[in-house]
Amino acid sequence: MTQALQLDILDLRHFSAANLKPLLATETREWSQRLNWDYRTSIDLILQYLDSRVLPGYVAVEGSRIIGYVFCVYEDAKAVIGDVYSIDSSDGRFSAKDIERQLLEHLITTLQNSPGTDRIESQLLLHASGRLSAVFRAADFEVFRRDFMELRLDGRKRKEIPKPPAGLAMRSWTEEDFTPAAHLIASAYTGHLDSKINDQYQSIAGSLRFLHNIIRFPGCGRFDASASRVLLSDRTRELVGVLLCSQVKNNVAHITQVCVAPEWQGRGLGGLLIEDCAAHLRQNGFKTVTLTVTQQNYGAVRLYDRLGFVRMHAFDAMLWVRPQMRLARMVDHNGAS
Ligand SMILES: CC(C)(COP(=O)(O)OP(=O)(O)OC[C@H]1O[C@@H](n2cnc3c(N)ncnc32)[C@H](O)[C@@H]1OP(=O)(O)O)[C@@H](O)C(=O)NCCC(=O)NCCS
Repeated sequence: MTQALQLDILDLRHFSAANLKPLLATETREWSQRLNWDYRTSIDLILQYLDSRVLPGYVAVEGSRIIGYVFCVYEDAKAVIGDVYSIDSSDGRFSAKDIERQLLEHLITTLQNSPGTDRIESQLLLHASGRLSAVFRAADFEVFRRDFMELRLDGRKRKEIPKPPAGLAMRSWTEEDFTPAAHLIASAYTGHLDSKINDQYQSIAGSLRFLHNIIRFPGCGRFDASASRVLLSDRTRELVGVLLCSQVKNNVAHITQVCVAPEWQGRGLGGLLIEDCAAHLRQNGFKTVTLTVTQQNYGAVRLYDRLGFVRMHAFDAMLWVRPQMRLARMVDHNGAS
């Protein structure tokens, strides 16, 4: 009779990159099959952090084999749960989902008991919506459904992209757009649901951090300046729209950001940015372009539907704010109004 192996949940920082490599290779295959996403660049980043033993998180160990992991990164008083992933235990006693739940419970408990952590965010792109939401809800998180959408480029007819309206010009991204784009993002997302889910959008400093992560780090694909677009006023040179695009796999691009200044919305500019980017990608041999959108962002969802994007997958975004902070924000808000 084979004896059931014990399943232990242990601190991630006790393990090196080499210990996790086999599990991460399995996860990489899943990202590729399910989301058409080459996860190797993100994995390389995780491996670097693992080797410097600075990544907070947990692993699930069966015997001497790591079969699951969860990690987070800190940004001041905020923790972002970056990923959770597991395979079934070899004796069939624990499913991948059971293990992922246990790993999350451990990490959430640790974070909620850390006085320095006032906010926890997480977007688990690989996991289907609802799969892990019960763990988060039980820990007092809000859960938001998001869609992963895809536009096929290969079968699309070549179509004339309209010119920007008089007074505006469109061009590819350049380094000088970095700071103006942060101002535009902070203004486009004022009072927006997505700035509740990701607090980087709530300020210019946060938007700069967002841009830094997207443009300088390979965590969300490799930034493609030539496919990214800005729309600016001829007269003032002020940015009125921006679209950021990264390559996530050979022939697959991902729009990591699209926004238009509030006073310019609803005049076709968002559509124009996406159509122009898609035409560029198509000319350069890309087969598909993807993006993610919060289901309650109805205007954006309608636009993507109209442009021909198709829902491939729904996943969840989670948010927890320490109760004292929620109260402080309400007092601030009431005091200001
Ligand atoms: C989402 C967003 C980028 C769309 O940009 P936009 O410039 O407002 O989009 P468009 O004008 O191309 O399309 C929006 C609507 O205007 C309509 N429209 C298009 N051209 C138009 C024109 N010339 N005149 C009037 N309306 C027009 C479109 O038909 C569309 O209508 P619909 O909502 O019924 O589908 C923009 O609203 C935004 O920045 N929102 C905040 C940030 C955000 O949510 N980003 C997306 C995150 S996934």
